[in-house]
Amino acid sequence: MQDNHKTKLRSQLWFDNPENPGMTVLYLERYINYGLTREELQSGKPIIGIAQTGSDLSPCNRHHLELAKRVRDGITAAGGLCMEFPVHPIQETGKRPTAALDRNLAYLGLVELLYGYPLDGVVLTTGCDKTTPACIMAAATVNIPAIVLSGGPMLNGWWHGERTGSGTVVWKAREQMAAGEIDYEGFVDLVTSSVPSVGHCNTMGTATTMNSVAEALGMSLPGCAAIPGPHRERGQIAYETGKRAVSMVWEDLKPSDILTREAFENAIVVNSAIGGSTNAPIHVNAIARHIGVPLDVEDWETVGHKVPLLVNVQPAGKYLGEEYHRAGGVPAVVGELMRHGLIHEGAMTANGKTIGENCAGKQSDDLDVIMPFDKPLMENAGFIVLKGNLFDSAIMKTSVISEEFRKRYLSNPDSPNAFEGKAIVFEGPEDYHDRIENPDLGVDENSILFIRGTGPIGYPGGAEVVNMQPPASLIKRGIHSLACIGDGRQSGTSGSPSILNASPEAAANGGLAILKSGDMVRIDLNKGEANMLIPDEELAKRRSELEAAGGFPYPKSQTPWQEIQRSMVDQFSEGMVLKPAIKYQDVAHA
Ligand code: FES
Ligand code: MG
Repeated sequence: MQDNHKTKLRSQLWFDNPENPGMTVLYLERYINYGLTREELQSGKPIIGIAQTGSDLSPCNRHHLELAKRVRDGITAAGGLCMEFPVHPIQETGKRPTAALDRNLAYLGLVELLYGYPLDGVVLTTGCDKTTPACIMAAATVNIPAIVLSGGPMLNGWWHGERTGSGTVVWKAREQMAAGEIDYEGFVDLVTSSVPSVGHCNTMGTATTMNSVAEALGMSLPGCAAIPGPHRERGQIAYETGKRAVSMVWEDLKPSDILTREAFENAIVVNSAIGGSTNAPIHVNAIARHIGVPLDVEDWETVGHKVPLLVNVQPAGKYLGEEYHRAGGVPAVVGELMRHGLIHEGAMTANGKTIGENCAGKQSDDLDVIMPFDKPLMENAGFIVLKGNLFDSAIMKTSVISEEFRKRYLSNPDSPNAFEGKAIVFEGPEDYHDRIENPDLGVDENSILFIRGTGPIGYPGGAEVVNMQPPASLIKRGIHSLACIGDGRQSGTSGSPSILNASPEAAANGGLAILKSGDMVRIDLNKGEANMLIPDEELAKRRSELEAAGGFPYPKSQTPWQEIQRSMVDQFSEGMVLKPAIKYQDVAHA
């Protein structure tokens, strides 16, 4: 047994506690009933949890059920004992009304498990969008040694010789169907071509984003994020991750040693360079709040905006997960950013080395996939943060602004990067679907589509609905995207430059609550402003009307958790965390 560093294991409080022999017997008694021996439980071996997010309900993470066997092998080889347990499942594409509702529920459940059971460390199995932040948030709160194992993306999808990326192809297929180019059968075939194997979305959607960000934060082994789910290297890194979890316990390397302000700045920079999802600020800010590191939504612009887009993967680029991995994945991206001074190289990572040590000299093996800093896919590819009388903050992903969008909205010579348009306001996704094709709405190529009632309170968890398709009549005229603004989110697989995550949301009586269809709105990307062009008296009048009406209405909750979460959830800009949870930090040691 290694006796360096840490000798007293947390799990010994349960299984080998001379101060409380009575309880020790009770704890021991049942954990031997499936064949574990008393000797194993009292031998002073670290007990490593495998937080299992895979199940039949969560296909994106389901192969973790297989990968866990390699994790166990690694834990055993390193002299640990393994206890695998389920995490509340989260499947982005399966959960009604939205999987975002479940991130905080999985978080809460995992906090209880990590705190209340005899675990010295934990392997966090991650993949589908919210599984990654839910697991890291819980590890941050409890603060026992924890390491992330991504399940990896699916193999590339293909359709008639072209790559079809998960999620991204859906937006394309919808447009083709709206334009009459394919029928419903064609739509289904095209969309399902993007899911050829186990794994999570093969695009740079929220899943690959969050797993890349987890690696950039230092929470996984180097190279872990990008390996496709079915590759042999995925099983191999599962084994290495299990092994490493045991050493982390002996070294007492905790989330609080890894998740520092420097690590978060590295994550923001990497998110820009990979063309990461607009869900990342919500989840990363939540992790920061749970570990107690100050991080604001504005940091995403100040730290991240000037970073170039290096990774040529859909939706911002062309390729998919297989190429991202072959080109070198996160270490190649970080290596290139390091050569340009954009990474805090001293940030500690899960393998016990700094990110600088891990990524020094790493470079792209395919310069068309992970591009050189000096010849990127796009300059200034990070998010910008807007504010004004519409909201205190909302973000926009500039790396997906299309040429068409730029020409139509952003090329007025008198005020470049700014535009004005008439607001068309929808009360949530159902209202949008009901009315968007109605000619009386008067949508034209300069309209700005708004959607509200879709934030953490209004549509509990926040709906991924802000990227709204124009009416078919406009698509047929070649107008593929209108400016969209809302208090909801948008899928990380969407290539729309929507202005989203608006905080406070309408249901929290933010500015969107008093907007009316027909109002003129001005967006200025240079100044970072978004305003209704309405006189102050009129704004004040609408405010007092809203107050008299008892605030902005939203539909009643359908489940107990919806009601509980609504009563205590913070806004997107604050990570959509459960407010009472923030004061619980380092709970394993408190
Ligand atoms: Fe699960 Fe995209 S739906 S990762
Ligand atoms: Mg999503």
